[in-house]
Amino acid sequence: MKKYVCGVLFLAVNLASVRSGPAGEAALGTRRYDDYEKPAVCKSCHVDIFFQWDQAMMSKAYTHHWDEIEYFDLAVAHAEKVPELKPVVDGCNGCHAPLAYLAGDVPPPRPSENSRANESVSCDFCHTVTGFEGDIPFNFSYISEPGRIKYGTKPGLESPHHETRMLDLYGQTEYCGNCHNEKNPYGIWVKSTQLEWKEGPYGRENVPCHRCHMPKAWGKNAKMAEEGMVAQHLFNGAHDPGKVGGAIELRIHPDRREVFFDEGVVLSVQLFNAKAGHKIPTGSVEDRILWLHVTAVDAAGNEYHLPVDRKGFEGETYTIASNELAYQDMGIPKGIEGFEGVQRDGVPEGDRIFRMPYLDPQGRMTIQQWNTASLGVDYRIGPRETKIETFTWMLPGDIAAGKVTITAQLNFQKLVKPVADFLGVPAEESEIVPVNQAVTWIEVID
Ligand code: HEC
Ligand code: HEC
Ligand code: HEC
Ligand code: HEC
Ligand code: HEC
Repeated sequence: MKKYVCGVLFLAVNLASVRSGPAGEAALGTRRYDDYEKPAVCKSCHVDIFFQWDQAMMSKAYTHHWDEIEYFDLAVAHAEKVPELKPVVDGCNGCHAPLAYLAGDVPPPRPSENSRANESVSCDFCHTVTGFEGDIPFNFSYISEPGRIKYGTKPGLESPHHETRMLDLYGQTEYCGNCHNEKNPYGIWVKSTQLEWKEGPYGRENVPCHRCHMPKAWGKNAKMAEEGMVAQHLFNGAHDPGKVGGAIELRIHPDRREVFFDEGVVLSVQLFNAKAGHKIPTGSVEDRILWLHVTAVDAAGNEYHLPVDRKGFEGETYTIASNELAYQDMGIPKGIEGFEGVQRDGVPEGDRIFRMPYLDPQGRMTIQQWNTASLGVDYRIGPRETKIETFTWMLPGDIAAGKVTITAQLNFQKLVKPVADFLGVPAEESEIVPVNQAVTWIEVID
């Protein structure tokens, strides 16, 4: 009998998929910090999971140097000059420092002040989400119900510290979409990782985010638990060179092997998004840059840089590296009258850039997602998509006869370097991360 009642209750809970509580902007200031337990409490039993999380960006979403710089030096400073922006800028914390947002502590104290905002996206925050508001999750639409019950994907677990309950949402991408989709005040999707996933092949096959970012492995999820398959809390992405490396596969070939001195050759590069469940780059697309650099070295060791062939699509100029200036709207929060901007790309001229430009109300490129009034051409590489780039090369007059080795190098940067330098963001944020390389050759004939 007892078992029967339990079964019915269990079913009811899952069908209703626990929700209640305010969500999104309505949740501002509806909780207290003390409603949430600290990660150190969970650590006493969930040791491995704690140290995985502690190394992931999840635990640094508020304290990370670039986040602190963009939030305080650009966003908060912008809202001080344009007061209508205040709710949007408070909203940064809905995803980066959810405890502070829910406690109404916005802007939160600086990271150096060691407040509980520093817990960033914490264990207890994530495990007391009971649902989300609306049909499409975005803009911290989660419903947070802190308390004794910790939710997860496994039914009937027993813990000496808390109750546990299974909720299907924890295995679904909508859960992540609460923070990985974002619409700004202009109605622009400035982040759409979960939406990209949904319309792509992984969405159709229902291979959720978890499969690649929280893979399951045999082990224990708590000191006193039985062994089983455990969701690893890796959340590795752009800040893990190993995750980015190889995400795109590259090949390059010529349209002829032997080339006469006065001839040209056409080299084709195939770029296959083999590893990501969404477009590359995704998420902070306004910051990220992915570019293809092709060079040739002749038999005498002379090196030549090959610019990409133009395809002629609308907005293509944004996808070919140039010396143009951009990001003039940083002048507003920085208080620089008539700011002329900084270099748009900071990579060798003529290289192909895979990106989607964010444009401010004046139509200039911006990294301020809250000040984005439109999006330019989407020239990113979709999940399992293959793009082809060609390089038509008229052999230079001084080339040496013999073998010429041609190398295609694909690189990634988390933040365009001229912006990082201008704002004083530590160098690691603009380091060049190699994604892949491919090599071919031709023979130059007299
Ligand atoms: C005193 C030890 C202890 C502490 C402290 C503790 N847990 Fe647990 N927790 C457990 C045990 C034991 C289980 C069950 C593991 C099993 O049987 O697989 C568990 C299970 C869970 C689950 C799985 C739920 C499910 O149904 O899938 C989650 C989520 C969880 N804990 C979150 C937390 C969070 C968040 C904290 C900190 C606020 C925390 N735990 C603190 C011991 C603890
Ligand atoms: C961004 C949200 C998020 C954060 C932060 C997070 N978790 Fe989880 N956790 C999840 C999700 C989602 C699952 C279910 C994954 C699955 O089954 O695919 C999960 C699963 C678990 C499980 C069950 C694992 C298993 O497969 O047996 C435990 C225990 C747990 N989390 C504890 C913690 C603790 C402790 C922390 C902090 C150190 C933490 N979580 C941080 C989202 C989160
Ligand atoms: C098939 C595996 C796979 C799936 C499914 C997947 N990802 Fe990824 N993800 C990757 C790989 C590989 C990278 C590294 C390449 C890159 O930066 O895009 C990545 C990168 C990321 C990044 C960092 C992007 C950046 O440039 O800052 C985020 C954020 C992310 N994933 C979130 C998600 C979310 C949310 C989902 C589900 C809606 C998801 N991923 C589904 C493989 C996957
Ligand atoms: C409460 C909001 C929130 C939820 C829910 C959430 N994330 Fe995130 N996630 C963030 C924030 C904020 C960052 C950016 C951290 C930073 O500042 O670089 C992030 C970053 C990431 C990254 C990139 C890490 C890197 O190396 O750059 C991955 C991957 C990721 N999340 C995956 C997931 C997955 C998978 C889920 C669902 C299981 C999820 N997230 C749920 C807020 C969230
Ligand atoms: C809807 C949730 C959400 C909101 C609102 C939001 N962010 Fe984010 N933010 C994220 C996620 C998720 C990522 C990680 C995306 C990725 O890895 O590409 C991120 C990434 C970033 C990054 C890049 C971090 C890195 O390490 O490279 C910065 C900086 C940032 N956000 C600042 C802000 C500021 C400032 C605001 C407010 C104007 C804001 N965010 C609003 C979810 C959000």
